[in-house]
Amino acid sequence: MLKAKDRLIIALDVPTPEDARKLINQLGGTVGVYKIGLELLFAGGVPLMDKLLNSGHKVFVDAKLLDIGNTVERTVTNIARLGATFLTIHGTDRKTLDAAVRGRGNSALKLLAITVLTNLQQQDLNEQGITMPGDKLVEHRAKLAHDAGFNGVVASGFEAAQIRKLCGPGFNIITPGIRPSGSESGDQARIVTPGKAIGSGADYIVVGRPITEAVDPLKAATDIVAEIEAAL
Ligand code: C5P
Repeated sequence: MLKAKDRLIIALDVPTPEDARKLINQLGGTVGVYKIGLELLFAGGVPLMDKLLNSGHKVFVDAKLLDIGNTVERTVTNIARLGATFLTIHGTDRKTLDAAVRGRGNSALKLLAITVLTNLQQQDLNEQGITMPGDKLVEHRAKLAHDAGFNGVVASGFEAAQIRKLCGPGFNIITPGIRPSGSESGDQARIVTPGKAIGSGADYIVVGRPITEAVDPLKAATDIVAEIEAAL
């Protein structure tokens, strides 16, 4: 079974690799996985990823890919070659999911489908012409990803329990939109506390601003790990 600290994924949503390194040094061994998203990927994120992997950390590449199959397949192959541990793909359709699975090949890369972004509410889905209720859309996309051979999904804490029921054990549920009680929600909409996410069946939680913008990031991370531990 994964330890509490290995279930905490830190979103390195900072402007430069220097800022990221500072944060990583502050957090030391408290954290199992570091997530490099679009912001940092285009500002020296790939060399930083090498350094993290060489020092024994796991790296989550949050590229949120969505393109034609050929492009998705080849991009996933390249990311797998870099040694990434997790990679996100938008889980909108089976063609994209199948292409990602082909691109992964026999590598150890774990593919995660984005179900519905945690900053979106029903009115945002309606605006896209999607009439299915948001929670049903999450379930639908989780099932699609599971059937395609994905390793898991990214979903809010509100849907974790239902996905676990639908996709069974062994399918990874990664939950962002985490806010310890009393912290700012920022642009997130469907937020839950670390304890609620883990208690609902999430395997990992993704935390950005509540740690990166904390006065004492190490204390913020340590408190969250303790809350995960208590919820297990
Ligand atoms: O700062 P905060 O804790 O809100 O950061 C959450 C992180 O999780 C961000 O890096 C965001 O891109 C990512 N994420 C998300 N919702 C998803 C998938 C990823 O918030 N559905």
